[in-house]
Amino acid sequence: MILKKYHTAEAVAEAIIQSVFVEGTEQEQLNLAVSGGSTPRLLFELLAKEENSKRVHWEHLQLFWVDERCVPPTDKESNYLMTYESLLQYVPLREEQIHRIKGEDDVNQEAERYSKLVLNKLPQQEGLPVFDVIILGLGDDGHTSSIFPTEMYLLEENIPYLPATNPYSAQKRVALTGQTILKAKRLLFHSVGEGKKEVLQEIIQNTPKSKPYPSAYFFREREDVELYTDQSL
Ligand code: 6PG
Repeated sequence: MILKKYHTAEAVAEAIIQSVFVEGTEQEQLNLAVSGGSTPRLLFELLAKEENSKRVHWEHLQLFWVDERCVPPTDKESNYLMTYESLLQYVPLREEQIHRIKGEDDVNQEAERYSKLVLNKLPQQEGLPVFDVIILGLGDDGHTSSIFPTEMYLLEENIPYLPATNPYSAQKRVALTGQTILKAKRLLFHSVGEGKKEVLQEIIQNTPKSKPYPSAYFFREREDVELYTDQSL
């Protein structure tokens, strides 16, 4: 693991902006998958500010999502809506650069459609799409993407996106699966706030007694996972 620790959530977001959005778009096309939930909102809001936005080569960015809740894009639960409100409405990304997961459609059909879309748009390795960067979030129960501890098999799957279920609310999701996550050129976890400290510590220590945390899988399988956090671990 490569630990990128900063003092505040703002500083963490600024570091991701610099490394992924500014430097990452300097040379050529960047195929980026972002997560939803609440953590990326601050990152997106800061990125939308003119002093940051003007440093990004937006024309090089192709934007995808790690996961989506099965709700319409107007629903407050929608990851797309959060991204639109905090970022997309302010920056010069063209429609053809934004690849939304359609949460309003049938979950099985949409997972299939989106899997085909990424396979078409991205380079492949062993039949799986290779993102340049994936930014993952982390749930209190150790879930990431929408791979919850109740659906660990999604870690092993070879289909890029599959239907998933949030076990607490029974909400259906479309989720990027484990093997495609592992293939990304850069894999980042973005996890801030005191509330994430305990689960982060457990994931990093990852003893045999640890609970089955989906996110721990990526820390085990890849030494170069980058953890952007404001927590001392
Ligand atoms: C989602 C996510 C999910 C998220 C974690 C952390 O749609 O909920 O993409 O995997 O990253 O649940 O969520 P918070 O950022 O809200 O803590």
